[in-house]
Amino acid sequence: MRQIEQRAVDFYRARFGENPEVVASAPGRVNLIGEHTDYNGGYVLPCAIDRRVAVALGHGESGLYSIDHNDTQPQTGPRTGRWADYPHGVVWALEQAGARLPAFQATIIGDVPPGAGLSSSAAIEAATALALDTLCGLNIARTDLALLCQRAENEFVQVQSGIMDQYASLLCQVGSALLIDCRSLASEQVPLDLASAGLSLLVCDTRVKRRLTATGYNDRRTICTRAAEHLGLAQLRDATLDDLSRLSGEELRCARHIVTENARVLAGVAALRRDDFAAFGELMWASHASLRDDFAVSTVELDAFVEQARLGGALGARLTGAGFGGCAIAIIEQGNVQSLMDAVNQDFSERAYRTPAWYVFSPAAGAEVVR
Ligand code: GLA
Repeated sequence: MRQIEQRAVDFYRARFGENPEVVASAPGRVNLIGEHTDYNGGYVLPCAIDRRVAVALGHGESGLYSIDHNDTQPQTGPRTGRWADYPHGVVWALEQAGARLPAFQATIIGDVPPGAGLSSSAAIEAATALALDTLCGLNIARTDLALLCQRAENEFVQVQSGIMDQYASLLCQVGSALLIDCRSLASEQVPLDLASAGLSLLVCDTRVKRRLTATGYNDRRTICTRAAEHLGLAQLRDATLDDLSRLSGEELRCARHIVTENARVLAGVAALRRDDFAAFGELMWASHASLRDDFAVSTVELDAFVEQARLGGALGARLTGAGFGGCAIAIIEQGNVQSLMDAVNQDFSERAYRTPAWYVFSPAAGAEVVR
């Protein structure tokens, strides 16, 4: 058992005086390439990270205890804008899907940094859903659990996110990224062995807090939908470069990002399959430029990191997740990680930006039942 899972068990025993019946955990994610494409029916390429949410669960009447918030909430409840919305959303979505849940109690703990764009919310949804599925013997397919978690997020928590985060949390495998076709929902493991090429996946959390509900995320979705309508298409996934001449203004810019980004994901997967990390890196720079100039979701901090990554010899760098703050990633030689971190810390301090938080992740396992 991982340490985080063991802690969920220890707290369960201490609070409820017995052993949990089920222990499950689920990871956060970084997206390597393919941003804002998921809700346009396009392609994404996330991988799971070594940060997880663990849920220990059993039959009982003692409610849901968040170790991180030191707070107990009932098994179900209305939306409140607080942590319990995620497990409550999952319970709601399972019941909407026809499941009849018994009285259960749980302890929940996580080490995915919240509000950083590393999908702490998908991790808590996925861990809760998988634990409940196991406790109740529901045998719901992973792909359907992901859809159920997305429904919890869209309809209960009321954030209009796409399918990427929940899919990544439930379906990623250790050592691989996951190519998802967000229209057909088919997915494919893409081996990602940066270490044997002497490379690291460095993550810079700019610590500019972002909350999807409070940002332009829903606005971007609306613009994309309008652009597709103008083109007479179901989704921007179907748009081509030629179609762009029929658009203007923000619809043109957003659509151009989606069309080119989808192409970059497919080119990126081809590059990874031949271990061509240099080619993959080029696509990352281009993705960042497109997110900055066309989709307009970058921030000065994310741009400054990407600029420093270029100066520091990274193969590629880009913002990851929704943007509007949060994290950026770089693929860089292991020996250059420390000097890039030093350079960025220095640059950020001169510009009076917050000191970033740093992580080096390797592609981790998706959600697992460990007991
Ligand atoms: C957030 C959403 C995802 C996806 C990304 C942008 O992480 O939850 O569904 O849209 O933004 O790629």
